[in-house]
Amino acid sequence: MEDKFAWFDEARFGMFIHWGAYSCGARYTWLKSHEKMTTEQYNKYTDHFDPDLFDPQQWAKAAKAAGMKYFVLTSKHHDGFCLFDSKYTDYKYKKQDLLRGVIDAFRAEGLRVGVYYSLPDWHHPNYPHDARHPQRDIPQECDYLPYREYLHNQIREILTNYGKIDIVWFDGSYPDTAHIWDMPAIRAMAQELQPGILISRLPGYDDFKTPEQNIPQQGLFNDDGTPAHWEGCQVLHGEWCYIREKKWKTVPELIQMLIRHTSRGGNLLLNVGPTSRGLLDKHTVELLEGLGEWMKWNSKAIYNCTGAPAEFPEPEGCRYTYNKERNTLYLHILSWPDRRIDLPGLGEKVEYAQLLCDGGEIGFTEHMPGNVNGPRNPAKGTLRLALPVTSPELPIPVVELFLKK
Ligand code: GLC
Repeated sequence: MEDKFAWFDEARFGMFIHWGAYSCGARYTWLKSHEKMTTEQYNKYTDHFDPDLFDPQQWAKAAKAAGMKYFVLTSKHHDGFCLFDSKYTDYKYKKQDLLRGVIDAFRAEGLRVGVYYSLPDWHHPNYPHDARHPQRDIPQECDYLPYREYLHNQIREILTNYGKIDIVWFDGSYPDTAHIWDMPAIRAMAQELQPGILISRLPGYDDFKTPEQNIPQQGLFNDDGTPAHWEGCQVLHGEWCYIREKKWKTVPELIQMLIRHTSRGGNLLLNVGPTSRGLLDKHTVELLEGLGEWMKWNSKAIYNCTGAPAEFPEPEGCRYTYNKERNTLYLHILSWPDRRIDLPGLGEKVEYAQLLCDGGEIGFTEHMPGNVNGPRNPAKGTLRLALPVTSPELPIPVVELFLKK
């Protein structure tokens, strides 16, 4: 049987896009809930969300240039406002089907397609006032079955009307609401309409895990101990949607993030929040360009890579990624050491080493029996790399270690 994860594991890097009426608030995605707004109060955003500069080609080109291989867009977030032309509601952007515009633009750049669809809906009258609902202080008798029907109808629309969907993200199930959705039926529908689709955030019925704003130290594992497929979702500045006040992560921090995910067998889904007018802001574009510049030289150490075999423990300040097919190990040097670096477990195992960015040889020494261990003689089983005194100009240099057959 075809491995439905093959493209996902190869890709390692995708773009998450949080965009909707809340982008007008320029504060946070959950503002309707945090500020306990009524739908009438929130109408100022849904009425004024009118992306006159909508340019999904800009997003798609920026994602591609950064080295991303797929994207996931919020077609409906918890506020219930739809970016797609659903026939089951008027609570949507009416001038055009924005989801279609984004999907077309990313497909044209050769990226795979992912759709985020919120299970909760703070607008629908049959969605209960749960603990996170903006009207949580107002008690309510609620028959949620009409909402379940609405939910299933919309999921069917998304999975029918837009061609091949590679990933679907069902966000927002909590233990107190899990009974509402009928998760087995959603899974069966998704598999029927889109064979091979990858499903996330449907607790107990999903295909992979999506840790949020944290990177599992040792990766994630299935019950039988085999490595699990996973995707960490991360933000550029502490919020998902476009916000005005922010403290940005830096390009080296973002590169490290990508390496940390890959080195533990996971993907990085890096979020951007386009402005309500429909463009990525200048700083987001610059960060993506910075990532793209690193990827241009180093993407071999990311695509189709995973963590190193356990027999090669990572030296301090470094991370390994590993390409099994090429039998090649990549040493990502997060902080540049003095002239040399010792690689435990790699003595006698390496055929040739080079700096990945310039393809220039990196010399190494092996243990010499009979000599004392010290600056000239690494310990038995350890390989000692001789590094240039100063780090190459690109952040996070990578040494490519071709292992012996
Ligand atoms: C969390 C947030 C939600 C966001 C999601 C992305 O669940 O509550 O707003 O869309 O993370 O992973």
